[in-house]
Amino acid sequence: MPVKNLFSKYNIPGPRYTSYPTVPFWTEPPSKSEWENEVKFTFQKTNSKEGISIYIHLPFCESLCTYCGCNTRITVNHAVEKMYINAVLKEWALYLELFEEKPRIKELHLGGGTPTFFSPENLQMLIHSILSSATRCPESEFSFEAHPNNTTEEHLKTLYALGFKRISIGVQDFDPVVQEIVNRVQPFEHVKRLTDWSRKIGFTSINFDLIYGLPKQTKAGIITTIEKVSTLLPDRIAFYSYAHIPWIKPGQRKFTEADLPANEEKLELYETGRQMLALKGYEEIGMDHFALPTDSLYHAKIEKHLHRNFMGYNSHSTRLLIGLGVSSISDSWTAFIQNEKKVEDYYKRVDENTLPFFKGHLLSKEDTILRKHILNIMCYGYTSWEQEHEQFETLERTVQELKEFEKDGLLRTEKYGVQILQNGLPFIRNICMAFDARMRNNESNKVRLSQTI
Ligand SMILES: C[S@@+](CC[C@H](N)C(=O)[O-])C[C@H]1O[C@@H](n2cnc3c(N)ncnc32)[C@H](O)[C@@H]1O
Repeated sequence: MPVKNLFSKYNIPGPRYTSYPTVPFWTEPPSKSEWENEVKFTFQKTNSKEGISIYIHLPFCESLCTYCGCNTRITVNHAVEKMYINAVLKEWALYLELFEEKPRIKELHLGGGTPTFFSPENLQMLIHSILSSATRCPESEFSFEAHPNNTTEEHLKTLYALGFKRISIGVQDFDPVVQEIVNRVQPFEHVKRLTDWSRKIGFTSINFDLIYGLPKQTKAGIITTIEKVSTLLPDRIAFYSYAHIPWIKPGQRKFTEADLPANEEKLELYETGRQMLALKGYEEIGMDHFALPTDSLYHAKIEKHLHRNFMGYNSHSTRLLIGLGVSSISDSWTAFIQNEKKVEDYYKRVDENTLPFFKGHLLSKEDTILRKHILNIMCYGYTSWEQEHEQFETLERTVQELKEFEKDGLLRTEKYGVQILQNGLPFIRNICMAFDARMRNNESNKVRLSQTI
């Protein structure tokens, strides 16, 4: 089938699979004590061997980037910093009460919002307090998201001294027309300055976030953006598909749908970027991600310890991920929970000394098996199920659905497995949907998702 037709066939609402089941399809919420027990159980089992991961959501931004799909709070009042940090530390203290020994931190990530909205002193206070109650695994990885317009050399020095060796820079697109319409004007010089400082200070892995499918984006613009990016040679690149969800993010109504590249144009933007990155020496990692062969993400793929969770792809997995802060998601491997999304609700719950989650999901045995297959596909483009084949009906339905993709030349089925082909990579979310029993049983929730391509 011509690519154009494949595009209209498969460009439907679908998840990005940073978890399975994905958030709109969580149906079995844990009670407070159930969640606490799941955390205690996984902590006892895994802390001494693999350690735990921590994600801290820092939601504040000084201005709204209109494409943004993340949980943010726009303000120029920096007095909010201290109050927010105190709440996060209070939440962390609630988790510490559940642990019988010092947590060993394997991964710590500051996401946003804009973590560099916070002053270096306040970030230092936050990280210092967390580390004072924990130890670090020898191979730990600390990372943070940085905005090129407000990250100072002081931020970098402070975070480096606290053990951060990875930085993720929000670039998105260098085209001034695109930057204007998405309200994120940041000259190339700011990104270059931040990259140069990071290298000089000693950061060992620099990631750039780019997005294709933004309003007013053109093929010529993407070519220029990738040319500029490759002069700075970041170790990793996340090349995200723009998720258009104006029914959840009204900021995306600041431009119109007519400003967005049409279906095939969007696929062309992706193909153009992907081919250019390959020529510049980048290896494709799972969905949307690229890395130089010297980067740990590439090694993780080759050595088969690549993992995907709410923070995206990472090179080490821990079974316990504690998400702190507003809207953060935690994963105990046996259950998920999500924190309150409004800052005020989050403060209120933490002040009441309760873990501030408002929804979640306890995984069934079937969820666990399907999660394994979806993770395999998202990380390696391959999965097999011989032993589980007879255990439940879902896989039979999955196999039938995979045949349809096979007819379109997107994958090759084996007796008890599936291999995604190069042509299938742009449709990887659709292929995972064949394993998604929770979504199949609740089709109506699909309308809340972004398009798969
Ligand atoms: C949580 S944001 C933080 C970025 C950081 N605050 C900054 O501004 O530099 C992480 C990344 O998600 C991506 N992102 C945000 N909204 C998106 C959307 N609607 N579609 C696709 N990717 C998006 C962007 O590439 C962004 O850099």
